[in-house]
Amino acid sequence: MSAHQVVFLAGDGIGPEVATAARKVLQAAGVEIEWIEKDLGLGAFHKHGDALPTETLEAIRACGVALKGPTTTPIGTGHVSANVRLRKELKLFANVRPVKTVPGLETSHGPVDMVIVRENTESLYAGHENEVAPGVVTSIKVITEAACRRISDFAFDYAKKWGRHEITAVHKANIMKLADGLFLDCARAASERDGGNIKFNDVLVDALCMHMVTNPSRYDILLLENLYGDIVSDLAAGLIGGLGLAPGGNYGVDCAVFEAIHGTAPDIAGQGIANPIAMILSAAMMCHYLGDPIAYRRIRRGVAAVTREHKDLLTPDLGGSGTTEGLTEAIMAAVQAQPAVA
Ligand code: NAI
Repeated sequence: MSAHQVVFLAGDGIGPEVATAARKVLQAAGVEIEWIEKDLGLGAFHKHGDALPTETLEAIRACGVALKGPTTTPIGTGHVSANVRLRKELKLFANVRPVKTVPGLETSHGPVDMVIVRENTESLYAGHENEVAPGVVTSIKVITEAACRRISDFAFDYAKKWGRHEITAVHKANIMKLADGLFLDCARAASERDGGNIKFNDVLVDALCMHMVTNPSRYDILLLENLYGDIVSDLAAGLIGGLGLAPGGNYGVDCAVFEAIHGTAPDIAGQGIANPIAMILSAAMMCHYLGDPIAYRRIRRGVAAVTREHKDLLTPDLGGSGTTEGLTEAIMAAVQAQPAVA
């Protein structure tokens, strides 16, 4: 098989540490990749005066796929989020975040196996904020029928493709009757188009948060607009042991960008103790997207073998005293030991 061309975006903070770990594991899985390295985030801003340089965008458009480390977004000031711009520019409308209990790392929340499907381009992240008078600002929530329909159909297609059984639309349509009402109507319409093959229901986002900590196993696929999806993803990651375990992929029509849920973790950056698992599992999702389900399975099984059998190598976020490097090397060896079967 010829090498896939993939754009590599190391990102900021722990980004280079965990993204490099993921690259090593892909190599251990025998995935042939020609990496195209580009800048993104705060590092890119300092170097090029732009957190999302045009040449980075063009490279992703040309290759159709990127592996991305987390990027810094200044709080309350500074440049616009490179993530938000990237998702808008490339029309990466669907953010998929599988959250599954990691073998050997069972938590008090019991088994979790849910997939978060988040609309990635609008809602309050559309960036329409104004100071209408001193001390008064507005932030406009944009919800369009086209985007809601597109993400709802994506969720039903995903459910069919991955053998999932139920979709729960998450909203606050009792309060935001127009905005969240439109989102919910579109999700219901997609369920009707599906003809009832996949079970469908809905829940208020506040009630969902309570159910997620009391009985998370009741949810299969959660379908959410942008802001709720962002917040609920971190909650879901907490259920399985933390942000260092939860992978993700951003999908558009022509391209996809794979990245962990977590951010740049400035509190531990440069110390060699970041957990690489979320990024490695994101790389596994990328393999599936590239048409290599064997590598996808080998990487997932390799990670599971290490979390089950090598607690001593786990990083501090998982209660261990291991390092990024030591954990990555163990995962590489475990991946190589997995049979090459899907
Ligand atoms: P964060 O996810 O970076 O960190 C939250 C906590 O989780 C910290 O204590 C951190 O040490 C820990 N953590 C996260 N990932 C970890 C890993 N792989 N291994 C071990 N511990 C890990 O969230 P925070 O602090 O709110 O954001 C920091 C920066 O990251 C901000 O600039 C934010 O905008 C950015 N960010 C970027 C994202 C992206 O590029 N996709 C996503 C989320 C935040």
